[in-house]
Amino acid sequence: MYVYLVLPVVLLLLLVYYVYSIQMSTRNMPPGPFVVPFGLGSIPEVWLRRPIFKFWQVRPWEYLAMLSKTYGDLIGFNVLGFDAIAITSYELMTEVANMEEYSIKFAHELYTYPRTFGKEMGLIFAASPPLWTEMRKFTVRTLREFGFGKVYTMHSVIIAEVNLLADDFKKKIKSDYGVVKFRNTFSLTVLNVLWCMVAGIRYEHDDPRLLKLMGHVFNMSKSVTFGNPLELILPVTKKIAPWLHKANLRNKVFDSCHELSKTLIEERKAEGYYLSEPQNYMDVFLKKIHEHRDQKDTIYTEQQLQSMVADLLMVGSLTLNATLNYGILFLTLNPEIQKKCQDEIDAIVPRNIAPTVDDVEKMPYFQAFMLETHRCANVVPNPVPRMVPKDWHLRGYVIPKNTVILSNHYSVNTDEKIWGDPLVFRPGRFINEKGEFVPDPRVVIFGFGK
Ligand code: HEM
Repeated sequence: MYVYLVLPVVLLLLLVYYVYSIQMSTRNMPPGPFVVPFGLGSIPEVWLRRPIFKFWQVRPWEYLAMLSKTYGDLIGFNVLGFDAIAITSYELMTEVANMEEYSIKFAHELYTYPRTFGKEMGLIFAASPPLWTEMRKFTVRTLREFGFGKVYTMHSVIIAEVNLLADDFKKKIKSDYGVVKFRNTFSLTVLNVLWCMVAGIRYEHDDPRLLKLMGHVFNMSKSVTFGNPLELILPVTKKIAPWLHKANLRNKVFDSCHELSKTLIEERKAEGYYLSEPQNYMDVFLKKIHEHRDQKDTIYTEQQLQSMVADLLMVGSLTLNATLNYGILFLTLNPEIQKKCQDEIDAIVPRNIAPTVDDVEKMPYFQAFMLETHRCANVVPNPVPRMVPKDWHLRGYVIPKNTVILSNHYSVNTDEKIWGDPLVFRPGRFINEKGEFVPDPRVVIFGFGK
């Protein structure tokens, strides 16, 4: 009896697969793992290739690096019904960086809801010009003005933070039998410096307002699902079963962050200095809102400013905090490297004086140590995916419109052909025979593209 039921189903599935495979084989996508229908895409081959017992532990960037050994530096695949390509070499990343086809982000509503009021706003997931390009230009320029990349402007804030941090270490060493746990050690320091640039405010480390701000950042990073597959495959579940997507939690987290930025915006507006003497990122943004007040479709709105505050808090603090933690880890694991850094610092700055940015310029080994930390830490192994805006002819393949593009920074930072011994932490690779620091652009930290 069951045979009568099972047989037609199997035949139907085979027919669907046959039609699907004919359709896939006529396309001229780059080589990659085989694609099966029913939304499974390339998952079966990826699963078959898993290192034994490690399916859940291996991270996507490690998989892509593994696949590039078989398929090369341009891999075509399919996930959950989305066509995708991965770019895994430095050469190809620089080749596509300024191409029009690589200039749009994949801003699925999955990312934008509810962090940016359910609309395409903010910067991280702003998909296309003019919002993305204009906002990035404005933000980078304004942050530079208030100290980002210009350590002089922020010097006193940074020194005050470093002193607090050193006191904190001393206290911890005394109270915890010499053991310092580093997991969140830099969070308050990093957040205070960042918040100073964004909102012009610096708190004491035990100030409840700073602890609340840190709570916001922590919750935002926890609540942003960068890919709940169910939300992609069946968006309707968001409406009928929001609890599956932690929608309420996400709403709460972003609502409270937006509430905080709204209060600050009102305070800055009431003070009124933003027009004559803007003091920080928020002030400059408010001035822009004022200047564009008569334009109907302006991107300078208060909601956009609130979205930017949330974005900057996240991108700035999580990345920096993680990088510093990795720096400490590499120093701990490599005492001889730690000693070399310390000797170099001691030779230039007396122990009771804080170093300046000019001093760092005189420390080639320390600079090499920082670059090697970026390379090995791989804090952002995959930046936000991009999306092909029109059919793309690349290296003889045709990549269809709407294909998702993943740049795998991890592959470049661990490429044996470039580094020889990529898994060894060796700052010396950036020091030349004269003892000078020679930065290598092939350490991919911040990404490529327009
Ligand atoms: C070591 C620390 C950092 C790392 C590893 C890092 C990494 C990155 C990466 C990979 C991108 C490219 C994103 C993309 O193309 O999708 C990026 C962009 C950006 N980062 Fe950072 N970042 C760091 C620190 C910061 C800090 C402290 C700020 C200041 C708030 C910041 C602000 C930005 C901005 C405004 C962009 C442009 C975003 C865009 O174009 O969408 N970053 N960063």
